[in-house]
Amino acid sequence: MQRRATWATRWLLVSDRWWKDAVFYQVYVRSFADSNGDGVGDLPGIRSKLPYLQELGVDAIWLTPFYPSPGADHGYDVSDYVDVDPLFGTLADFDDLIKAAHEIGIRVIVDIVPNHTSAQHAWFTGDRSRYVTVPAGDGLPNNWPSNWGGPAWTLDEERGHWFLHLFAPEQPDLDWNQRQVRDDFDAILRFWLDRGVDGFRIDVAHGLVKKASLEDEPEPFPEARFSSDWRTAIDQPEVHEIYRDWHRLAAEYDGDRVLVGEVVFADQARVAPYLRPDELHLAFNFSLVFQPWDAERIRASIDESLAQLPIVTWVFENHDVTRIVTRFEGERQARAAALLLLALPGPVFVYQGQELGLEEVDLPDEVRQDPIFKRTNGERLGRDGCRVPIPWTRRLQPNAWLPQPPSWSDKSVEAQTGRDGSFLELYRRALELRPQGGFAWRESPPGTLAFDRDGLTCVVHFTDERLPLENVVLASDDENTAVWMRR
Ligand code: NOJ
Repeated sequence: MQRRATWATRWLLVSDRWWKDAVFYQVYVRSFADSNGDGVGDLPGIRSKLPYLQELGVDAIWLTPFYPSPGADHGYDVSDYVDVDPLFGTLADFDDLIKAAHEIGIRVIVDIVPNHTSAQHAWFTGDRSRYVTVPAGDGLPNNWPSNWGGPAWTLDEERGHWFLHLFAPEQPDLDWNQRQVRDDFDAILRFWLDRGVDGFRIDVAHGLVKKASLEDEPEPFPEARFSSDWRTAIDQPEVHEIYRDWHRLAAEYDGDRVLVGEVVFADQARVAPYLRPDELHLAFNFSLVFQPWDAERIRASIDESLAQLPIVTWVFENHDVTRIVTRFEGERQARAAALLLLALPGPVFVYQGQELGLEEVDLPDEVRQDPIFKRTNGERLGRDGCRVPIPWTRRLQPNAWLPQPPSWSDKSVEAQTGRDGSFLELYRRALELRPQGGFAWRESPPGTLAFDRDGLTCVVHFTDERLPLENVVLASDDENTAVWMRR
């Protein structure tokens, strides 16, 4: 009861914000829609699919980086923050896209990558004064590992220094203790806000400021695959100053612009400080990304998130994690997961293709491109399997930058549109009926979850047992694995 009351009070605080229960659709730009047949998605392609997104019923789209980039991490290595990579179009295409999206009521947020730049950014090919560097001495500056294998430091013998990179060496880390870096990013944010974006998704939001002493992480040091493995080097108090500045900056603009942080911690208590009223508006809650398809684990994760965070977002998929059809071992589970996800209270992030029930693609090694795969010599498969371009038509795209499996012909938008019981039609209907208002668990037998939202009850079965159900308005499948019922 206590928990419900707290949740309801927090909810009231954001009750007039457009994003408080918005459905954000993540567009992984290079894999969404290809307008010029080069095998890679682009901005005009996205624009051409706005009617699809409108019909699907999403409120906003998040565009992954489309800025000029050598592509070492497919755009998360930016060499110019205020332009569009020719691969994806032009600034004029961007303006057209924003305008067309706004005309049909779809907001647009864009990715901003402030932790690191590309090694080909002029700041890095130039004097490097904006970066974390340490004069070359005896060996590595400390024991920090790159998230993708090997040390987080690379020695530049010519320049006589080590430079830091939490990710690949092609992505050197900026030094956020410098006023210049902060000013640069203020100008970058303004550039895009002036062009009409509705907000930003902030990459590695908790990582920008590093511990000034650059001291070793405590031993024994785990292999840092994930930011939550980092103990003391990142998540520094000073990072909050940045978001307070950005909050003020965004508030200067009309239209309720939103800041969404990628604050990656398994423990949501560590995410909460980023969501203070004068900092980020939203942060991804990745806790469901780590759960198996198990009633008790998922309920515990939901409870924990609601208890820890002032506003909770819900995420099952993105461009960095295995798709749920594969993770939850089947389409039946993924369909049920869709009804669970879309009934939860608060903003939801849907990754492109999630609405089609796409599975992780088991790509042959020769076509894999993810730097994680390359840097670990294939020991870690990386993320290409969830980045295969969207199949729009039954006839698949012969030159897609990652090959679409032949079975996707039948999963294409064309094949699923209007098909009774298709994954896509389930999504469309769920987005149409998506419940609002209060949230409260109901008693239900082990292996099931049940909760109420305003006029609807959502029941999800994780085993083959089924409860007797009445007034079903939407079912995930013929077996009622998950249902929404009218009360
Ligand atoms: C998180 C992004 O989601 C991921 O795709 C990227 O590789 C890293 N940050 C580094 O920018």
